[in-house]
Amino acid sequence: MNISNIKSRFPVFKKNPNLVFLDTAASALKVDEMIEATNNCYSNEYANIHRGNYELSSKLTKKFEDARKKVADYLNISENNIIFVKSATEGINLVASCMSKRYLNDGDEIILSYLEHHANLIPWHLIEKNIRIVPLGLNENSEINYNELNNKINSKTKLISLTHMSNVTGSITNFNKVKDFAKKDNIPLLLDGCQFAPHKKVDLKELDPDFYVFSAHKMYGPSGLGILYMKDKWIDEFSPYQGGGQMINDVEINKSTYATGYEKFEAGTPPIAPVIGFSSSLNFMNEVDPNVIYDYEMKLHDYAYEKLSKFNNIKIFGSNKHKGAIISFNIEGVHNSDFGAMLDKKNIAIRTGHHCCQPLMKHFNVTGTSRISFGIYNTKEDVDYFIDSIHEITKILL
Ligand code: ALA
Repeated sequence: MNISNIKSRFPVFKKNPNLVFLDTAASALKVDEMIEATNNCYSNEYANIHRGNYELSSKLTKKFEDARKKVADYLNISENNIIFVKSATEGINLVASCMSKRYLNDGDEIILSYLEHHANLIPWHLIEKNIRIVPLGLNENSEINYNELNNKINSKTKLISLTHMSNVTGSITNFNKVKDFAKKDNIPLLLDGCQFAPHKKVDLKELDPDFYVFSAHKMYGPSGLGILYMKDKWIDEFSPYQGGGQMINDVEINKSTYATGYEKFEAGTPPIAPVIGFSSSLNFMNEVDPNVIYDYEMKLHDYAYEKLSKFNNIKIFGSNKHKGAIISFNIEGVHNSDFGAMLDKKNIAIRTGHHCCQPLMKHFNVTGTSRISFGIYNTKEDVDYFIDSIHEITKILL
């Protein structure tokens, strides 16, 4: 893999060649092919889709549906199970809302973990049923404590909904262990793949969750697009999440019937240009190979983890095992937001704060952390510069 060729695919580095971007977990930088496809879509191809009886519309409709097929192929499943939403967050809200109408009852239980992002907590708080949330604790490596699963599953358990990879510690969920427990009781499983999908191959046929969500903007793609995978059983069982647009069969003034299949959940004009753009991000991911991306990023991670571990005054949250390329830490006596602001002066971008994971922060007994996360454009030199900057900043602040 030629890293300078890869970096040259990200136009931001032409304007800002010394940028050290260590915040890919929040949103990835944008690859040229995606930007060009989006630009071309708006400049030359644009019309609303699924509705126009003219060439521009029918051509773009075909391209949009081809993109659905490309997403499905990438995940090794059928395009009939891909629902385009505006964000992964909307994907989980959709599942929570539909489940509350058709599946959940007062007194039911849902198992979540302390690693969850707010997007996999609040949708379950918002539903208007009296559901009990049963939290899974963490082990000494801040990974999900799989041993607890057996005790926490009972006849009231109606869903297990977990992150596939923590956005704070990078810990990767051992989904096979979860499945072993869940499948014997027929408990549906939702995986939040926002952090995993950008870094490693996802084979949904093999993983076999009931629901999988992730977002395009973390995969070198456009913002405004989330992908929700849903098994046929749930597509058939759920009623629509929102009304309008293509989700109909027939509408009268006082009643309506709905489309079957994924269309049932795609109300309104869909995120047309983001889907077209995302198709090109997937070309890029396929070209580099997601498993090569993982190995490359993990080399950088291991290098950075080792360097950070050598500081006596740095506490790292989570271990360096079973994980993706994210490290959260705090420097004793330095507030993470001061640290982040000083790094910014050195052209280094990191995320600081609670990372939309307040329950995990409470578990760690902190209000926030500093977090570095890697993308395909990072280099060993980025890590060296970052580590040198910690030395310089702590000299000033401590
Ligand atoms: N969930 C994203 C993050 O972890 C935004 O930064």
